[in-house]
Amino acid sequence: MVGRAAPHARGSLNAFLVTVAALMTVGEIRTARYQADPAEVHRVLLLYSGGLDTSVMLKWIQDHYEAEVVALTVNLGQPGEDYDVVRGKALQLGALDAFVVDAREQFAHEFVAPAIRANAVYGLGYPLFTALGRPLIARLAVEYARRSGCDTIAHGCTGKGNDQVRLEATIATLAPELRVIAPVRGWQMGREEEIAYARQHGIPVKGGTESAPYSIDDNLWGRSSEGRWIEELQTAPHDDVFQLVTRPELAPDEPEVVEIGFERGVPVELNGARTGLVELLEAVADAGARHGVGIVDHIEDRIVGLKVRDIYEVPAAAILLPAHAELERLVGTIHQNQFKTSLDQKWAYLVYAGLWWEPLREDLDAYMLAANEYVTGTIGVKLYKGVARVVTRSSPYAVYDAQLATFSESGGLFSQSASPGFIELWSLQSRMAWQVRHPEQK
Ligand code: ARG
Repeated sequence: MVGRAAPHARGSLNAFLVTVAALMTVGEIRTARYQADPAEVHRVLLLYSGGLDTSVMLKWIQDHYEAEVVALTVNLGQPGEDYDVVRGKALQLGALDAFVVDAREQFAHEFVAPAIRANAVYGLGYPLFTALGRPLIARLAVEYARRSGCDTIAHGCTGKGNDQVRLEATIATLAPELRVIAPVRGWQMGREEEIAYARQHGIPVKGGTESAPYSIDDNLWGRSSEGRWIEELQTAPHDDVFQLVTRPELAPDEPEVVEIGFERGVPVELNGARTGLVELLEAVADAGARHGVGIVDHIEDRIVGLKVRDIYEVPAAAILLPAHAELERLVGTIHQNQFKTSLDQKWAYLVYAGLWWEPLREDLDAYMLAANEYVTGTIGVKLYKGVARVVTRSSPYAVYDAQLATFSESGGLFSQSASPGFIELWSLQSRMAWQVRHPEQK
């Protein structure tokens, strides 16, 4: 039977292959309903960073789909970005319109603040800055796509990462009528082909073209670098990867203490001065970066199965998350503190895994809010050569009494003479079990 397909089957196989080939010239094979049918792509909202991939894409979409492109660039506090230049570049490459949205306030209040209340860290040290940004970026893409009469949203994610999941899950959730294209997943251009394409089409290519740069993603909650030597697990970080945080060996010899005032789990004061959240996050990041704080060399389990290594620079998170956790532990009871840890982990995983819009995340947020009702007070963190260490704490709601904590005092709520009775009952089951298991020692 093998190799002897009936003529009609061979015919339909050929037709299928022709269709596949046609689809592949414009992108990818469609496996989900939300993916665009090339024939129905007329106006595309492109999530535009101004980098090589999305600049090539801006032209490529116009060519291959004969579609119009509207560019959207979202400012989440990427340090040193010139948004006028990015916008100008989009228009120069033929964008019908180019929007730049300053979403720092929304990002800080709707995404970073809940992450702080949830002590959100994935794996052993990734504070989720990218994962938190993507649902907001995708929500804005939906908003601007609808407003500009676009039928399709395009992004520059590859098929191997988490970001495609976060963006597309958001779009498919919030805007079932919109379609998605992800040209990088299908166009099979490597960096060299992209540069050649860019040259051909008058797209400015900045930086050295010989060696590939790091793949960077950043916002006001952190910065990641991937690619190059980072993919070799036995290679220790090259100095040039650190563009945000001072290397600890170069950090000042004088330590600095920052005092963070929290209200209901959210930082509101820096060194005694009331400060808006965006400014506070930026100022704390500056202080941490100066002192070499927040460098993380991380192996991570991606949603799509791969393990990957990232170099993170997260100066603000490396100060604010431990400060928040400290205050929370101080005002929470042992029962609240033990319980919340597991919910924190669940929250972080949902967000990492691109399920921001999952109702369980909202349920958990309701708990996080309740658990943070009394997380008000001030934490001092000492910064010195790469280390951020909590050194002072105060809160009107601390479940703490300095009198009770001293060794010698007895009285008030605590009676030392009651302790032996407590110990006898506390250890009762453990003692009984020990005896049952070790009868010879009776
Ligand atoms: N590993 C992190 C994450 O999955 C950071 C990804 C960085 N994204 C990027 N497009 N370079 O969230």
